[in-house]
Amino acid sequence: MKKEFLDLGRQPIANAFLNKEDFDDEFFFDLKACWDTDTSLVSIKNFVEPEEIFNENYPYNTSNSFPMINHFKQAAKMLTKKFQPKNVLEIGSNSGPFIENFNKGNSICVEPCGNFAKITEDMGYKTYSEFWTTELAKEIIDRDGYMDLIYSANCICHIHDLDDTFKAVRELLSPSGIFVFEDPSLLRILERGSYDQIYDEHPHIFSVTALDNLLRRNGLKIFNVDSLSVHGGSNRIYASHIDNGLVGDSVRQNINEEMVFGLDNFQTYEIFADRVKKSKDTLVRSLSNLRRNGKKIMSIGATAKSTTVFNYCGIGTDLIDVITDTTKDKQGMYSPGVHIPVVPRDSINLNDYDYAYLGAWNFKEVIADKEREFVQNGGKFITHVPEVMVFS
Ligand code: TYD
Repeated sequence: MKKEFLDLGRQPIANAFLNKEDFDDEFFFDLKACWDTDTSLVSIKNFVEPEEIFNENYPYNTSNSFPMINHFKQAAKMLTKKFQPKNVLEIGSNSGPFIENFNKGNSICVEPCGNFAKITEDMGYKTYSEFWTTELAKEIIDRDGYMDLIYSANCICHIHDLDDTFKAVRELLSPSGIFVFEDPSLLRILERGSYDQIYDEHPHIFSVTALDNLLRRNGLKIFNVDSLSVHGGSNRIYASHIDNGLVGDSVRQNINEEMVFGLDNFQTYEIFADRVKKSKDTLVRSLSNLRRNGKKIMSIGATAKSTTVFNYCGIGTDLIDVITDTTKDKQGMYSPGVHIPVVPRDSINLNDYDYAYLGAWNFKEVIADKEREFVQNGGKFITHVPEVMVFS
């Protein structure tokens, strides 16, 4: 049974940055989150059709977040050393920062966004510009054979039908093959109060507990879990066919940690929802007070997360003048729903502002390091994770 615990209000597509002429034609939906008492899976209540989100205009380019390029390089290096896979397939390959570390002849991309599929195709990788389904897996078996490594980062939690997703992986995985995927951790989100990781593109937020249930019912099992710092805390899950090898201690440890936190108890989710409401009140009050005192506020990182925060809290250009972002496709556009202009970082002088809200709080250290001059000149950062606070 699905039990609703969180209401984040009317929300647009979190990554649908738009032009002025499209303001009247925006898609909105009710963003609510539920907990499934049977599998322990957390999901949003109203799924948005994937075609609304993942299309030719999808702007999230992994290669624009330079810390992530290094992250994928290291992941590829580690997986090659540990498992020496011959045939590799990536689900949701984006602009290719993971797959580019593998041999072109034996590596395959699956990427429904045509703009990114073209990039990996041009790089010389065979790319299926389609959504991940069992039909596609069967087509790939016929054309390319079975895969020794199926990898996916920040993508599996985007897919509505997880049973079909995991069945498709089981079909395509060679007998001793491994399935490695990483997505934001529910436990870290609840610990940090980072409710902004719940949005249209993340219809599911994974705990190890829920994944263990879902993978097992589809013939796969988790044999190892790595805790990662990326995206505010993620889990890298290693799975194999259900009858293969041993289950490492990390699986039990992670599930125990989740039980101790209370991920199997609805009350934990109600407490979280209460914290989210308080976070909203505090953030709006703090920004409004600063504004009333004549302070200028901007935001760094036109993230899907900041779309969620700004729409949930009703923060628009009355409180935040402008958002800077390094992604070319977002620059010159307006943020979804609340329509704050997005500009390149070097088009503004940060010293003209008193406060910078961290839309990309997950890159807090990198940004604080880049913007030392802003702080030296008296500038301050604002974040809402783990609590609303000002720091410099
Ligand atoms: P990410 O946190 O992955 O966002 P999302 O919530 O959309 O998943 O993306 C970070 C965004 O912040 C991305 O659009 C690039 C931008 N960015 C900057 O503008 N400056 C920076 O220094 C960094 C590291 C990222």
